[in-house]
Amino acid sequence: MTTAARQLDTSELEERVKHMYEEVALEPEREFHFETGRPLTERLGYPPAELDRIPAAAIDSFAGVGYFLDLAAIAPGETVLDLGSGSGTDSFLAALATGPDGQVIGVDMTAAQLAKARDLAAQHGFSQTEFREGYVERPPVENASVDCVISNGVINLSPDKPAAFAAAARALHPGGRLALADIVSARQLPEGVTCDASLWAACIGGAMQRDDYRAAIEAAGFTIETWRENSAYRFVSDRADNATQKYGVTSISLLARRR
Ligand SMILES: C[S@@+](CC[C@H](N)C(=O)[O-])C[C@H]1O[C@@H](n2cnc3c(N)ncnc32)[C@H](O)[C@@H]1O
Repeated sequence: MTTAARQLDTSELEERVKHMYEEVALEPEREFHFETGRPLTERLGYPPAELDRIPAAAIDSFAGVGYFLDLAAIAPGETVLDLGSGSGTDSFLAALATGPDGQVIGVDMTAAQLAKARDLAAQHGFSQTEFREGYVERPPVENASVDCVISNGVINLSPDKPAAFAAAARALHPGGRLALADIVSARQLPEGVTCDASLWAACIGGAMQRDDYRAAIEAAGFTIETWRENSAYRFVSDRADNATQKYGVTSISLLARRR
């Protein structure tokens, strides 16, 4: 990962990622390298009855890669941090689980995603949900203030994954959970892929080799308890599909506990 980060222009990457996910927020019906929306959520295993209870417009802009909320097992009254919350699908589902006595803080760096999630929270009465502008590598939350950190399809986009895992560990109290879905690869991706900001923004180029990914989580102070492959997730463009086949790029969900 650090090799890739050195060779990738991270400012260009940030602009590409922001541009791509601005389009996902504003024009979700467009075609991307990846699937979006309600059909994807249902194929990944999100319970339809739960989806019916959150704003449909949030789900239209869903760009996650796996289901993990069963692993998160969020309880009433808990505080949840959603890293890279996008238009809010997982934040709103988490808010159903925390109930009005809990709190869900979504953090995202893309203005259009934040604006959409905030509008939907206000319109649909999700008063326990708040969306803050920030980076997943340094989310604006108090240390040890969170019971569960969640994230969907985001850490692969970060040029500094160890910093993102360390930030999750800092936000949690000891015993707190990290539950996420993300993209990893079976084999280390070559520079031609990792230095392609467009493939990176499409959740492929930044995929970390799976053993390195596990090691980065453990090094941040977590013990991985569950690791699950999400075979239902697939990329849609030929270019994306070629890279994923060749290097074994797949979606996983996991549960880890802060030591
Ligand atoms: C693939 S989308 C997933 C959004 C949401 N989790 C979902 O499942 O629909 C990735 C999101 O992460 C945000 N993002 C990517 N890198 C980020 C970073 N370093 N800091 C904060 N947000 C980031 C993007 O703006 C985008 O909204």
